[in-house]
Amino acid sequence: MIALDGPSGAGKSSVARRVGGLLGFLHVDSGALYRIMTWQCLLHGVDPADPEAVAAFAPTVQVECAVRQGAVAFFVEGREPGDALRTPEINRYASPVAAVKAVRDRVTAWLRGLTRFGDLIVEGRDITTAVFPGSPARFYLVASAEARAERRRLEEVAKGIADQTAEEVRRSLLARDAIDSTRQHAPLRKADGAVEIDSTHLTLDEVVRAVVDALPEGWRGRVV
Ligand code: DC
Repeated sequence: MIALDGPSGAGKSSVARRVGGLLGFLHVDSGALYRIMTWQCLLHGVDPADPEAVAAFAPTVQVECAVRQGAVAFFVEGREPGDALRTPEINRYASPVAAVKAVRDRVTAWLRGLTRFGDLIVEGRDITTAVFPGSPARFYLVASAEARAERRRLEEVAKGIADQTAEEVRRSLLARDAIDSTRQHAPLRKADGAVEIDSTHLTLDEVVRAVVDALPEGWRGRVV
């Protein structure tokens, strides 16, 4: 189990997919589960800004998991949400939903259950601190707010959903960071002993190399 935390746009997904591919570890995007919770709230008319309503609703959400192309994919009632999880509305409400303890408890239980599929590389905000704090390989990936906002904007352009200016992307990202790192339950922070990598001036290859170089000896030997 490799655990990778950091704020939005620090490059966690790209790094996790690449490192997972090199080692044969399945990639798990834990943020997708918080986004699924938010998507389900919106679909079922639950106000995502009302923590009590969200807490009452959280235990009713059922998620199915399947291994596909080197990652764990998530489904709700047989439907894969895909880009429905990446809308500006879900970007906005995922942080307040993720601050609700009942949501965190449910997602944490799902994540811990995924070890049944084998070796994982799990990315998120509290993987190194709360979900798998005993992992032998824990990383904290950061980058400047400008670099993170620009990466997010380019991703949205590539997906054809670029309906926000660079400044709007930056503001929405910083608003999420603020909620994620100041919430009461499992806030985003660097875990003691986690390896911090600042990707602001690094290429993806360089970050991947830094992660691989810091892995326990036995895992480094598995890199293909
Ligand atoms: O990584 P992301 O943007 O897809 O995450 C969506 C939201 O979920 C974001 O507000 C942070 C939150 N999150 C969290 O609280 N804990 C995690 N392990 C992963 C994501």
